[in-house]
Amino acid sequence: MLLSTILALLLLPIAALGGSATLLDALYNGSVKPESIAAAGDLDMPKIRPGVNATSYDWWYFDVVSTDARASVTIVFYDSGPEGFINPYERGPLSVSITGLFPNGSAYDFSAPATSAVVSRHAGGSFATSGVYKDSGFEWKGTTSSDDGEVTYVVSIDAPSIGVNGTVSFKSIAPPHYPCGLNVPGATEQLFPHVFWSNAIPDALAQVDLSLAGAELKFDGYGYHDKNWGDTPFVTTTATWYWGHAHLGPYSIVWFDAVDSVGTEHFSGYVAKGGKVLLSSCAKDSAVARPWGANDTYPPTVTTGVMQGLDIQFDLGHGKTFWANVSTTAVAIDFGVYVRTLGTVTGGLHGCSKTFDGIALFEEFKFTS
Ligand SMILES: *[C@@H]1O[C@H](CO)[C@@H](O)[C@H](O)[C@H]1NC(C)=O
Ligand SMILES: *[C@@H]1O[C@H](CO)[C@@H](O)[C@H](O)[C@H]1NC(C)=O
Ligand SMILES: *[C@@H]1O[C@H](CO)[C@@H](O)[C@H](O)[C@H]1NC(C)=O
Ligand SMILES: *[C@@H]1O[C@H](CO)[C@@H](O)[C@H](O)[C@H]1NC(C)=O
Ligand SMILES: *[C@@H]1O[C@H](CO)[C@@H](O)[C@H](O)[C@H]1NC(C)=O
Ligand SMILES: *[C@@H]1O[C@H](CO)[C@@H](O)[C@H](O)[C@H]1NC(C)=O
Repeated sequence: MLLSTILALLLLPIAALGGSATLLDALYNGSVKPESIAAAGDLDMPKIRPGVNATSYDWWYFDVVSTDARASVTIVFYDSGPEGFINPYERGPLSVSITGLFPNGSAYDFSAPATSAVVSRHAGGSFATSGVYKDSGFEWKGTTSSDDGEVTYVVSIDAPSIGVNGTVSFKSIAPPHYPCGLNVPGATEQLFPHVFWSNAIPDALAQVDLSLAGAELKFDGYGYHDKNWGDTPFVTTTATWYWGHAHLGPYSIVWFDAVDSVGTEHFSGYVAKGGKVLLSSCAKDSAVARPWGANDTYPPTVTTGVMQGLDIQFDLGHGKTFWANVSTTAVAIDFGVYVRTLGTVTGGLHGCSKTFDGIALFEEFKFTS
């Protein structure tokens, strides 16, 4: 047996209990390997080994939409090569961006580079991680209560160079999952070829308290945290995609419906009720999202305007379907190939007269002309 194999076997129990990874603000020059099968405790850890190269990406994403679907914040911790994803590449792969809407509809957008980063998880088998993006002023801290397993994450910002400071806090109310099922070792992490996803916090009670270049942004809402990664330029793997999450009545829902570059449609649907998972699947039609109203071209193209709304159908199995009708209330980002929107949502179980109202934050990529 190779010494490295013996060491890896010896280290395995330690890795399962805790551990940390350092990310360098330099591209790896060579072939990288994306993690594709879940390992215990690994859900929210770095996924590209040995480190991102020019054409790969790994990021941690957080968002909150206000309870009136008017204000928002999205924070993304990037570790991304210049051709990996479409985010602005600063002087290296590590950077953090914070974007969103003030309640009056004005957009804000700040970003800061980091010089290195450390992502660590805690002992005790929880998936919660903490990440410090050095010299950016941004970090997140995830914890799991040893009493009841409650997961909380707090993003803290102290970035005087860009005039941003404050906190965004998340208290999870729905269990984590991967594209095709819950957080168990051996689960597939692949959404479709070369694109991977884990969703640590599908829904959360969230509080935002930020100072943004002198302006205050303070609101309560529903939050979300996930991560994506891939080993091939995102624009070459994806043709169109709808992703989003919503909170309505007792329900937490997450949809993902994308068409890849060879024209195959891929699905991932998640529905939880009061924190109990009813659906976590990548089966065909597990979540089918289609635009309605103005700008309802499907599949959308780069010139299609922002959709007036989205109709989403979740196949819960056993003949049951959950439906959600999202109406766009505000546009946080629109630059042709990418749209991020806020909305109100109405939905419920098909054939059930009881319907629920809530709020959503959703996005669309459209790379086809
Ligand atoms: C990457 O490695 C190749 C092969 O060793 C070398 O030719 C190339 O100059 C390296 N590129 C960079 C940016 O270091
Ligand atoms: C990055 O890794 C991918 C996956 O192994 C590989 O296909 C690609 O050629 C690598 N890119 C560079 C610039 O080395
Ligand atoms: C941001 O920092 C300023 C200056 O220290 C402070 O007055 C303000 O309360 C902070 N904002 C938040 C949201 O913490
Ligand atoms: C909206 O609110 C922000 C933050 O208070 C402010 O900076 C901006 O000027 C306002 N925009 C408009 C159009 O009033
Ligand atoms: C539809 O898209 C056009 C731009 O193509 C835009 O002006 C319009 O506001 C959009 N309609 C709705 C309801 O969002
Ligand atoms: C969704 O809601 C809108 C606005 O209330 C309505 O016009 C539309 O018909 C609904 N769509 C579906 C598929 O129920």
